[in-house]
Amino acid sequence: MNLDARLDHWRSEIDRALDEYLPDEGSPPLSLHRAMRYAVFAGGKRLRPILTLAASEAVGAEGHLALPCACAIEMVHTYSLVHDDLPSMDNDSLRRGKPTTHVVFGEALAILAGDALLTRAMEMLATEPPGDAMAPRRTQVLSLVARAAGAAGMIGGQADDLAAAAIAGSAASERLISIHRRKTGALITASVLAGAVIAGAGEEIERLRRYGEAIGLAFQIVDDILDVESTTAVLGKSAGKDARDLKLTFPAVLGPAESRRRAEELCREAQAEARALGPRAAPLGDLATFVMARKN
Ligand code: IPE
Ligand code: IPE
Ligand code: MG
Ligand code: MG
Ligand code: MG
Repeated sequence: MNLDARLDHWRSEIDRALDEYLPDEGSPPLSLHRAMRYAVFAGGKRLRPILTLAASEAVGAEGHLALPCACAIEMVHTYSLVHDDLPSMDNDSLRRGKPTTHVVFGEALAILAGDALLTRAMEMLATEPPGDAMAPRRTQVLSLVARAAGAAGMIGGQADDLAAAAIAGSAASERLISIHRRKTGALITASVLAGAVIAGAGEEIERLRRYGEAIGLAFQIVDDILDVESTTAVLGKSAGKDARDLKLTFPAVLGPAESRRRAEELCREAQAEARALGPRAAPLGDLATFVMARKN
């Protein structure tokens, strides 16, 4: 199967499962459930849950074992976008080609929908896949995803991203890398590790961690570049906002050419890790190419 066909297949599996795991739109509280579903099904590349499935296949498991974790991670990611777009954060009105959740449902419901997506994700990680035999793997995944999503990872990175606006221009690239590794890289790395752990990975873990860290940072560098070089229509979110908000980004600190060079280098590192894992990990190598070549 080529990558496009594989991506389509994974996306349809993920979306079918997300539909099953999210609360019913017809059950109360209606507007909360509608807001959760609106945010999740507005579109999105599903990169993180795809990485979970691909990592689990790379260590030899059938994809369906990792599907609940994959969906939980997409819920954590979607919640982070809903909150990232709030007026008190990046104040964005377009996401995944649609008006943001707070624009459609109001700020209070957007906050609550984000909270509910995060807590539903944690519930799923604690309970799926079921059975006593899976309990140690479940605990490990719950712990690694919670850590990646929390103050030591994504939330800490988001807090520093907001604070860094004031110091843009004078900040060292080390600080920028630290922010990007946490706000975006941590959850991407956790997506890879979750799939591997659920599948019972052994010595492959450290290689997969290096793979995840490399594409995680590359992903946010490309996001920063696209904000400068692409358009709102292609991105499905407002272009040019980082410069307007004086965000600390790769193009702002290193320029677009050097930023692209660094992202390419990281993707090559990730591809080398994937190659070393053998033929079952070939899709992970293709996904590193996808991260670099993506247009939105
Ligand atoms: C956007 O992530 C937020 C960042 C971490 C840069 P994606 O580009 O993966 O967003 P969707 O899920 O495809 O909408
Ligand atoms: C968002 O980074 C990272 C998280 C949501 C954790 P950005 O603020 O750059 O993402 P976009 O550009 O709004 O998607
Ligand atoms: Mg942001
Ligand atoms: Mg943003
Ligand atoms: Mg961005």
